[in-house]
Amino acid sequence: MAGPRDGAGTAEGSIRLRRAEAADLDFVVATERMAHNDLRISQWPRERHEACLADADYAYWLALDDRGTPLGYAILRGLTDRHGNIALQRISVATPGQGTGRAFLVALADWAFAETACHRFWFDVFTDNAVARALYRAVGFVEEGVQRESIVRADGRRASLALMSTLRPEWLALRAAAAAN
Ligand SMILES: CC(C)(COP(=O)(O)OP(=O)(O)OC[C@H]1O[C@@H](n2cnc3c(N)ncnc32)[C@H](O)[C@@H]1OP(=O)(O)O)[C@@H](O)C(=O)NCCC(=O)NCCS
Repeated sequence: MAGPRDGAGTAEGSIRLRRAEAADLDFVVATERMAHNDLRISQWPRERHEACLADADYAYWLALDDRGTPLGYAILRGLTDRHGNIALQRISVATPGQGTGRAFLVALADWAFAETACHRFWFDVFTDNAVARALYRAVGFVEEGVQRESIVRADGRRASLALMSTLRPEWLALRAAAAAN
């Protein structure tokens, strides 16, 4: 698989992408702990973020506004996967509902297909995360199936995960259609 280009300046909508560095982990950890993430994403100890940030299989990204202020973060996993599967391990924005998440997700998938040999860009999402699922469907991701009651969440209850993905030809066709409109 081709290696990622650090600091790729992909632009999508009103956000810019920047690879996160160790100095950005304060923002990552603070955002991750915000109340709107409860039961939607895992909360990792800072040490785990530090280890993943240093791991070539992972890529940490920030969405920035036009002044360079971080709006959200995302973690991709699978950059060294020889089958070309890149997973969106996590995405979270500090202020939901302002269009950041959509632009961020599109920019991440664009980067994966443009800058790596990714064939399948995938993720899982709790089936009760209505906002995220609506966003993923609206962007054009395909639901592959549901892992029923596969996770015990922080509140002790079992939850189901929907697997979603887009394949390289699907994504390129979606983006070509969007550019033509
Ligand atoms: C999921 C998340 C990243 C989306 O980012 P966002 O900036 O809030 O989303 P956007 O404002 O770009 O909205 C994009 C779409 O999400 C959906 N959406 C947004 N807010 C919504 C709401 N309150 N109710 C239902 N759908 C909603 C809509 O489909 C919207 O499309 P539209 O712009 O055509 O209306 C963000 O809400 C978040 O950080 N959530 C907590 C963490 C999380 O759930 N992460 C995903 C785990 S898989």
